[in-house]
This record gives sequence, structure tokens and C-alpha cells, in this order.
Amino acid sequence: MAYRVAVVGATGAVGNQMLEILHETGFPVDEVYAVASARSVGKEVSFGDDIRLRVKDLASFDFEGVDLALFSAGSSVSAEYAPKAAAAGCVVIDNSSQWRMDPEVPLVVPEVNPEALAGFRAKNIIANPNCSTIQMVMALKPLHDLWRVKRVAVATYQSTSGAGQRAMDELFEQTKGIYMNREPQPKIFPKRIAFNLIPQIDRFLEDGFTKEEWKMRVETKKILDPAIDVVATCVRVPVFVGHSEAVFAEFHEPVDVEEARTALDNFEGVVVLDRPEEGQYATPVDCVGEYAVFVSRIRRDPTVENGLAMWVVADNLRKGAALNAVQIAHRLVDDGYL
Ligand code: A2P
Repeated sequence: MAYRVAVVGATGAVGNQMLEILHETGFPVDEVYAVASARSVGKEVSFGDDIRLRVKDLASFDFEGVDLALFSAGSSVSAEYAPKAAAAGCVVIDNSSQWRMDPEVPLVVPEVNPEALAGFRAKNIIANPNCSTIQMVMALKPLHDLWRVKRVAVATYQSTSGAGQRAMDELFEQTKGIYMNREPQPKIFPKRIAFNLIPQIDRFLEDGFTKEEWKMRVETKKILDPAIDVVATCVRVPVFVGHSEAVFAEFHEPVDVEEARTALDNFEGVVVLDRPEEGQYATPVDCVGEYAVFVSRIRRDPTVENGLAMWVVADNLRKGAALNAVQIAHRLVDDGYL
């Protein structure tokens, strides 16, 4: 059995990776459609080394007969077109934040809560979580199974690719410009990103947190356990690809660092890189193109009763977005839903 698959947002940073990973992982495709805005009609994108796909315009694209659509074209596009695709019988896996907190839409990290997939027929939409949430819950899940997470404080160091291709271009142009004495002109980011940090991702909410920080809290509850409290500070850093996180987790039961290391290393999709004395720990550059979530610097937090501190890094375009979406697609096939 093979499937007709559409990638919506195929010209973007995540869409490009969706096509690459569908190909790399051998997803059984009968036909693949690359879909984007009218601006991209006439362009071509790659599917594997040999196949070029001509981009189609979403506004006139017919989802009838398409089995599966992976969306990564922003929330407003998903709000309008995901229900249309779903009504045409196409299963939508949506990378935007539009549907994540809808009680009828499963929010899934396949290694963490595959059982949540079961309810997807209510809307025919499955949501892919926020990139920072995905890598954090991957690192928390094996520890939650051991000692139950009570509270997490996290600071993120998020790369520009999380804001899309044009955001990566902005970092590149500003960096080049600074060497030529050109004053940086922020367009995508609220402030200069080259040689700088921005403690704002998404908009501010009434309580002083940003929407990105809120997403980490509510999505972790939905995916892992509603009893877990999360407080986050999300920061954009001048890195092209790869999100990093300093995670401080408190547990209900006493923890052990060696046991944590073993449980993390045994968990599917997680790799422990933790020999700091030999210079072994993950940095975002090391993780580009990788599928795994890397955990380093695992240590006891001596300031609380049952606490661990750790450093968690992943390719945000892959496990944080496209890979997770494609893994959901594989799961649908493997579990007989497609
Ligand atoms: P396009 O290149 O035609 O604008 P990124 O996150 O890297 O910025 O990518 C966003 C993706 O979403 C691109 O593929 C972009 O296509 C697509 N997109 C943005 N707005 C729309 C829209 N209104 N209709 C269809 N695709 C859209």
C-alpha cells in the first residue's frame, strides 16, 4: 500500500525537511505534492536526489483523493485549510500552533504519547507540538516514568530557523552587514539578532510570559501529565539550526544521576552525550541533521529535594518539527489508521 501525500509549506524551512525526511525514511508514497502560496507557483523543490516537484498553489489545490497532508505554513493557513483538507477525507498532520490545544485534536510525540493518536478521527487533524516542547518532553518522559516530574524550570536558546527561512536569512544578512559597518535592520525579529540575544519569542501575554513560554507549559501538560508545572524563559539566539535548553526538573521521588543517564540512553530517540571532563556534551552545531534529542550535563540540583539539571539539544527542524510529523505519519501506517 502506498499513499498520496501533500506537503503544505513545501518551500519553507520545515516543509523542505518534511520532503527530505519522507524520502529518507522510505515513507510509502504513491504521489507527493509540494504545495505553497501563489508566490511559489512555477518553482520546483526536491524530493530525494532525483525527483523534482513543481509547486502547486494551496488556494486551488484539491485535497480530494490525497491520503495525508503535512502542513507547515503558519497558523492562519492551517486555520483555513486544514479543516478543508480534513473534510475532503485527508488526514492532516499540522505543525502550526493552530490546533494543538483543541481537545479533539491529539498532540503527539510518538515516543512519548502514541496512545493519544487514537482520537484523531474526531477532526481528522493531528497536531505536531512546539519544537521546544518536543525535545523537552523527550528528555522528561523516561525520568517521569521513574520518579514523576513535579515541576520544571527551563531556559531555551532557540535558533533562528524556528522562525522560518526568512529569519535565517536575516541572521545571515545582519551578520555580514556588521562586518561592513551597516546598521542592522530588524524585519522578522523584534530586535537585532546578529551577535545578540532576544528574550522574546512570539507575542507577550497579559501575565508577562510570551506565547512560546505558555506553549511549553500547556503542551507539556497535554502530552505528558496535567499535574506537571512548567515555567519557561524562551530566548532567540544567533544560531541557524538547533535549539538548546537548560532544564531544571523536580521530582516527587528521590533521584539518582546514574539511573537517569541509563534511562535516558535507553529511551528511543534520546542519546546521552555526557562526559564533560572529556569535552563531551552536545552543542547545536553537532545536532544539525540528526534525528535524536541529545542530553548532556546531567547532574543533581542540590538546591531542591529531588532535582536534576540537564542540557537538552535537538535539530529543531527535524525532531522539533518535520521528523516528528513524519514519525506520526509512519505511526498512522504502522497502527493501521491509514
Ligand atoms: P511561499 O514560499 O510560497 O511563501 P517558512 O516557515 O520557512 O517561512 O515557510 C513558510 C511556508 O509556508 C512556505 O512554504 C510558504 O510558501 C508557505 N506559506 C505561507 N503563506 C502561505 C499561504 N497563504 N498559502 C500557502 N502557503 C503559504
